[in-house]
Amino acid sequence: MTTKMRTILVLGSSSGIGRATAELLLNQGHYVIGGSRYTEQFKVIHPRFKSFAIDLSHLSVLPQQVRLLEHAYPELDAVIFAAGYGQFGSLEEFSYAQIINLMTVNFTGVACLTRALLPRLKRNKRSDLIYIGSEAALKGSESSHDVS
Ligand SMILES: NC(=O)c1ccc[n+]([C@@H]2O[C@H](COP(=O)([O-])OP(=O)(O)OC[C@H]3O[C@@H](n4cnc5c(N)ncnc54)[C@H](OP(=O)(O)O)[C@@H]3O)[C@@H](O)[C@H]2O)c1
Repeated sequence: MTTKMRTILVLGSSSGIGRATAELLLNQGHYVIGGSRYTEQFKVIHPRFKSFAIDLSHLSVLPQQVRLLEHAYPELDAVIFAAGYGQFGSLEEFSYAQIINLMTVNFTGVACLTRALLPRLKRNKRSDLIYIGSEAALKGSESSHDVS
């Protein structure tokens, strides 16, 4: 049985889970588009790797970036959302700007990017969207700070 080679956008490919995923997919023979802000942090010279600079906090330009992406890679048929960051502490310790950025990068940007990609991806016979989440989204933990 032969495995179909996919063209996969890996968001967060410059570090951590996204980087490990991008490397694994390349080793498996897939085409990988690595998306993050600082693409130079994952310098791979590989015939099946291309990087794509994207900032999930810049919501207004996401649709335009998706058009560029779809034009350059019409064969795109999977996206792995592994970009994001965690911030830990009590809510009252965060500034409003920190809260907004956290929600934009980890949630709103991901939802908007998915929204922009869906019409084209749905035209494929098969497309996959994979989201890397956190157990912290399912289970809260007690704050170590006293509220007084
Ligand atoms: N590692 C864990 O054990 C673990 C556990 C649970 C959940 N998670 C979650 O899984 C995700 C990935 O974790 P990780 O450990 O792989 O983190 P990481 O090593 O810090 O990598 C985060 C990736 O997200 C990208 N990124 C950050 N802000 C971005 C933005 N505004 N726009 C586009 N890309 C952005 C970074 O690239 P640039 O800086 O180049 O943009 C980087 O490639 C995070 O959301 C994290 O909270 C991780």
